[in-house]
Amino acid sequence: MQSKNQKPKTKNLLAASILAADFARLEAHAREALEGGADWLHVDVMDGHFVPNITFGPLAVRALRALREETDALLDVHLMIEQPERYIDAFAEAGADIVTVHAETCPHLHRTVQQIKEHGLKAGVTLNPATSLTTLEEILPDIDLVLIMSVNPGFGGQSYIPGSTDKIRRLRRMLDALRSNAYLEVDGGVKTGNIHEVVAAGADVIVAGSAVFRGPRSVAENIAALRGAGQSR
Ligand code: DX5
Ligand code: ZN
Repeated sequence: MQSKNQKPKTKNLLAASILAADFARLEAHAREALEGGADWLHVDVMDGHFVPNITFGPLAVRALRALREETDALLDVHLMIEQPERYIDAFAEAGADIVTVHAETCPHLHRTVQQIKEHGLKAGVTLNPATSLTTLEEILPDIDLVLIMSVNPGFGGQSYIPGSTDKIRRLRRMLDALRSNAYLEVDGGVKTGNIHEVVAAGADVIVAGSAVFRGPRSVAENIAALRGAGQSR
C-alpha cells in the first residue's frame, strides 16, 4: 500500500502485445514472452469501427487463460471498440484481469469504469494521441490504469509519436499530485531506441509488440534488450 506521503514509484513492467505474435502458434509464442520475462500479455481488441482493423474477441482471451493461471501474468485487455460496455461482461467472464476502454468511445465513462470494477477487475482508461489529459481529471481517482497511446490505435509496427513523451511526463505529474498508485502504461512504437525516454518520463508499464515478437533475436533476447535499454544511461 502506498503511504500518504510517499512519492509513487514507477513499477517497471513489460506487457507483450500479442498482436505482433504468430497467430498460428499464439499460445507457444505468448508463452515464450512470459518465459522470457514479460510481466503481462497485452490483448488488442479491434472492431473494424472505432479502428480500421479487426482482431480478437473474448474467445481468444479465454484461450490464453490457462497460460495466465500457470504463470501469474495478467491479461491486459485493450478494447478499441465502439460501445465497449456491451462486451465488458464477456471479457470478464473470459478471464481478463485488466480491461481498458477508450475515453473517446465512452459518453458515460464513469458508469463504464464501474461496470469493469464490479467484476473485480482493474479498470483502465486510454487516450488517443490527440485527446487531452484534461479528459481524465474527473475519472482519475476511480481508475487503476491510464494507457497513453503513443501511436494512433489500429495497427502494430507504427512509429512512436514524439509528442507522447511530454504527455507522459504531464500525466506522471497529475498522478503524483493525487498520490495515485494507478499504473501509467504506454502503448505503441516503443523499441530499444526510445524505451529509456519513455520510462524516464514516468511510464510504469511498457507495451511492446514488434520489439518483442518481431525483433532481431529470440523473444527472450528481445525482451532482455528492451529491459536493458530501459534501465541504461
Ligand atoms: C495499437 C495497439 C498496440 C500495438 C503495439 O493499436 O494498441 O498495442 O500492438 O505494437 P507495437 O509495439 O508494434 O507498436
Ligand atoms: Zn494496445
